[in-house]
Formats: sequence, structure tokens, C-alpha cells
Amino acid sequence: MTKKKIEIAQMLNILLAVSLLLLILKFGKNPTNKMEQDTTNTLEIIHQRKSVRNFTPQEVKKEQLQTLIKAAMAAPTAVNKQPWAFIAIKDRDILDRLGEKLPYAKMLKKVNAAIVVCGDLNKTLEDWEQEFWIQDCSAASQNILLAAEAIGLGAVWTAAYPAKDRMQTVSEILGLPESIIPLNVIPVGYPKGVEKPKDKWKPENLHWEQW
Ligand SMILES: Cc1cc2nc3c(=O)[nH]c(=O)nc-3n(C[C@H](O)[C@H](O)[C@H](O)COP(=O)(O)O)c2cc1C
Repeated sequence: MTKKKIEIAQMLNILLAVSLLLLILKFGKNPTNKMEQDTTNTLEIIHQRKSVRNFTPQEVKKEQLQTLIKAAMAAPTAVNKQPWAFIAIKDRDILDRLGEKLPYAKMLKKVNAAIVVCGDLNKTLEDWEQEFWIQDCSAASQNILLAAEAIGLGAVWTAAYPAKDRMQTVSEILGLPESIIPLNVIPVGYPKGVEKPKDKWKPENLHWEQW
């Protein structure tokens, strides 16, 4: 091989190596990049979430409700007690009866699915720690709202607990045993129109190190 040919071969090798390096940088599975991407996605969902109260008639499938409830059950709970029970509703009559009786959940009459998040007093911690069920079920509820946003659905937390009359209404209509306390009713559906998330960032509510 002549000297010139060797030089050309060396140049081509360098070019190939540089191209390979560029390809790896662009498409390679760099764990740091992936993590940054996932974090951005999660933060986007958190900031995009909003209460949705208007829905299209499009049906929400059983599998979608199960996806939301699976996300709920991934929430943290005190001493990992998971003191909860979830009731998934698709029945038109039950949704209508709840919507009729709950003063701030009228949208139930216009949605075709809902999830009721309940505390199960048979599964809680004891004494003063029993009330951790409220935080536990609230964390689960937030997971439902976020998961709904993530799969293109809309939802809104409508309160049952601690309003005695609303808790009683929900308990009666759903036939809940005494140990099962409804925290909220979450209508779930396809959003009608585009609702914008509220910007709640208020720097004055953040205190660094001490009050
Ligand atoms: C504990 C709690 C109770 C709520 N109760 C109701 C309710 O009964 N009816 C309703 O339409 N929205 C209810 N909401 C939704 C709030 O009105 C809503 O989260 C708030 O206005 C902020 O708007 P955003 O969810 O779009 O950020 C409740 C939210 C929480 C956390």
C-alpha cells in the first residue's frame, strides 16, 4: 500500500470514529439524559393538572379506571398501612343519584365514570395515629388526579369528608359499611374544551431555613 493510501485509510477511520461517537451521543442510552427527560415529563404533568368539571360523552373504560386506581395505590402511607378502599363507578343511575344529592358535585350527572376514595378504619393505625388515613387517602387522590392528566383524562376532587351530610349521602348510595369512610368523589372523563391550569406559584409562601 502506498503512503498516500495509508493516509486516506487513517482519515476514513478517524471520520468513522467521530461519526460513531456523535451517533452514541445523540441516540445512546445515557441514564442522566433519560432521568432529566422523565423528570421534565413528570413536572409537566404536575403543572398541567387542573380541576376539570366539563366532560364530553366519550366513554371512560374500565381499564383506564384501573390504571388510575393502580396509581392511587402507589401513594405513600404512614407505616405503609394502605388504609384505603376505592370504588370505581360507571353505572349511570348511581352517578346520577350522587350528582343529584351532592351539592358541589353536580358534574357527576354529566360524566360517565367516577372514583370514590375511602378510608378503611379496619386497616388504620391506632389511637391518635388513626387519622393518618386522611393524609394517606389524600396522597392517593392526588395520584389519581395526576394519572388522569397523564393519560389525557380530566378529573376533579369533590369533597365528602369531613362534611357529615355528604359522607352520609355517599355511604347510603354506595352501601358502605360503617368502617368505610368516603373522603371524596372524583368524577373522571374526557375534558370538554381546554381548561388551563392556575398559576399558584407565590414566592411569599416559601420560607428558606426559618420563618
Ligand atoms: C379537599 C378538596 C375539596 C374539594 N372539593 C370540591 C368540591 O366539592 N367541588 C368542586 O367542584 N371542586 C372541589 N375541589 C377542587 C378545588 O376547587 C380546586 O382544586 C381548586 O379550585 C384549585 O383549582 P385546580 O384544581 O384547578 O388547581 C376540592 C379540592 C380539594 C383539595
